[in-house]
Amino acid sequence: MPGGPTAGRRIPARRLVTLPDVTGGGWSRRGAFVTIEGPEGAGKTTQAERLRRASQDAGIEAVLVREPGGTVVGERVRQILLDPASVHAPRTDALLFNAARAQLVRDVIRPALARDALVISTRFADSTLAYQGYGAGLPLDELRVLEGFATESLRPDLTILLDLPAEVGLGRKANETNRFESAFGLDFHRRVRDGFLALAAAEPERFEVVDASGAPDAIAAAVVTAAARLDRLGRLADEPTGDAMRIRR
Ligand code: TYD
Repeated sequence: MPGGPTAGRRIPARRLVTLPDVTGGGWSRRGAFVTIEGPEGAGKTTQAERLRRASQDAGIEAVLVREPGGTVVGERVRQILLDPASVHAPRTDALLFNAARAQLVRDVIRPALARDALVISTRFADSTLAYQGYGAGLPLDELRVLEGFATESLRPDLTILLDLPAEVGLGRKANETNRFESAFGLDFHRRVRDGFLALAAAEPERFEVVDASGAPDAIAAAVVTAAARLDRLGRLADEPTGDAMRIRR
């Protein structure tokens, strides 16, 4: 199937900027930051690991992180967030996800980017917009302010959205019961999926949408092809990719 409007186009090196030193850490930004997003059961973890391996094979240092988590504080916050026995207001969730994110950015993502690595994150700020915004109804503009504060305005160079219908993804995870799978109904997860697609449509230069309902090998090929759009990851295009399977936006 042919790619979307940006398929095959290299993303220019707009990320080769030095960020203002708002942290006192003097971070510079040389690496590439790729996030993998999508609704429940899209296979983000599997695909992130496959992209990490492909990157290492191509000689690119790749650091894999997950949200929420990835730091001592973040893993503790994760336990609170995903505990099926907890009941949270959506604003509490938004703050906790961003608290874990702030620590991850500061401790892991920024240092890795500063030493020229590729950082692959399964979920990042778009998940808060999709779940707490489109899903739970919090105002997107307020969530974006929170995001900017937590991330010190760090944004992904590329976001790969693994898209699939909510009922298919939930069906794949039927035996797992984190709070978001057990306490929120199908309508919520449909809004999340539609939210991700709306975010992708609004920023086609950052997003690549991949149909995640197919076979893992084909999805992996599409993910590698998408990542190779980044100038710094162009080497990935030389890796065997199989038949790419992007969907049109
Ligand atoms: P996890 O078990 O890691 O699921 P997945 O493999 O799908 O990422 O649980 C993370 C859950 O938290 C998932 O249901 C989505 C939800 N979530 C939010 O609601 N907001 C956020 O900002 C993030 C990062 C995750």
